[in-house]
Amino acid sequence: MQLPTLKNLAAAPTLGEDQRQSDTAPPLLKRHPIKALLGAAKAHMRAVSRGRSLPPGSLAEAEQYLLDDPHYLLSLQKIHGPILKAWLHGKVTTCIFGVALGRRFLAENEDKITGATTDFTPLFPHGVLRQMNGEPHREYRRLFIEAFKATDLAASQPAIRDIVDDMLSSLADIAQPASLAEMRETLKHALSAIMFRLLLSIERDWSGYDRMLAVYDRYAPNGTFKTAKPAHHQYFAEMKEILSERASEIRSQKPFPNMLSYLLAADRLDETSIGNLLQMAEAGRYDVMGLWTWLLRMLGTNGDVLERISQDSDETRRAAYCEAVVMEALRLEQSEFLLRRANSDIVFDGFFIPKGSIIRIAIWETHKDPEKFKDPFRFDPTRFLGSVRLSDAYAPFGLDKHRCLGADWIVKLGAIFVERAALKLRWDIISDAAPVNGTFHFEPSPTLAIRFDRV
Ligand code: HEM
Repeated sequence: MQLPTLKNLAAAPTLGEDQRQSDTAPPLLKRHPIKALLGAAKAHMRAVSRGRSLPPGSLAEAEQYLLDDPHYLLSLQKIHGPILKAWLHGKVTTCIFGVALGRRFLAENEDKITGATTDFTPLFPHGVLRQMNGEPHREYRRLFIEAFKATDLAASQPAIRDIVDDMLSSLADIAQPASLAEMRETLKHALSAIMFRLLLSIERDWSGYDRMLAVYDRYAPNGTFKTAKPAHHQYFAEMKEILSERASEIRSQKPFPNMLSYLLAADRLDETSIGNLLQMAEAGRYDVMGLWTWLLRMLGTNGDVLERISQDSDETRRAAYCEAVVMEALRLEQSEFLLRRANSDIVFDGFFIPKGSIIRIAIWETHKDPEKFKDPFRFDPTRFLGSVRLSDAYAPFGLDKHRCLGADWIVKLGAIFVERAALKLRWDIISDAAPVNGTFHFEPSPTLAIRFDRV
């Protein structure tokens, strides 16, 4: 069955129940139509009782095929404008489009919002930076900014290059074509090694490396969990134990620059900084794995980009172009939204946002604005070459005091990956289909298969 796309939404018939449950339709389990009705009624009543109006849009739950279409919110924006309401992921959600508007919302409502993310406080005090506010956030963010500065990426560059080269060899050694699951596993393995090195001072040849990797894979086999369960407590305790083994070893050594060493030397290793360190390694390896998977897919249909990199003998120019490739991939995919929860009622640009509802700054859609990015769905890294000013249009790393601390690493590590891949491999996409709505983000279709050949 061919599902209608948003491009021809107006002409699309409403699907019948039997059609929706066909093999190709996504499962209906994610839908909560009754909850949506109740949530909508509550939000409307609250707005009326305050003499206010909710933003335009509908709180009725959309058909699953619309929710699974990456263009869904773009189509709503065209109808309703830059602030709209929708029922998303079981919540009343206010969507805000555009960098300037998103930034203003975050700045004006700093004290009324909090990061809508997994609660890690059952595992360690204050939880992760993303969920912190006020003084604890200022204190630990400052500490980690210093820790990132101290972790000189250049000093680890040769080791990172080796890890990436080993990973590229593994991709070429898999029975071809490699499936998406095999590619993700291979990338994640390499990114675990990179994150363990930079954050936890753990190298691949350290005696506890395999133990740590095994615990991480049990703690979060498919990215960060939504709620900490008893098993997470147990694995987290094991991870802390292995980290403390490593910490006591490096007290007497002077290893390469890394975060654990920095925190030890600064005497700032406490439950909260350890928790953030361990969780950052998990989120970092998973998110970057997602980005690198997109890069493989994008570069698989843009062989000219690989040629350009491999033929350019000017190292500085080549590195700048590889960084532009990563920035363009981030514009097109992986960075999708910033989520906040309203801690109290909010009025923004005249619209009422009820307490307890979600605010979504729509980054993916903002990155597709044709006024800011010509031919916005085209993969074109040259947009990011030269002295481009994109601060009012481009925000893959966030917009406020919670901006990603790993931003610089993501671009630099991605550039190493792109450069090494262009020098060592060529690949062809053997099968593919439309992206799917994964646990956290849109992801390439599970049918993606790529044939890798050594150059
Ligand atoms: C493709 C990979 C990544 C993307 C697209 C990404 C994107 C983001 C975004 C958009 C935010 C802001 C969230 C918000 O405002 O709610 C954020 C926060 C954060 N990111 Fe990343 N990130 C990535 C990888 C990493 C890595 C590798 C690290 C560290 C090793 C990292 C560390 C952090 C931290 C610590 C925060 C929270 C900062 C705070 O709340 O003060 N990220 N990231």
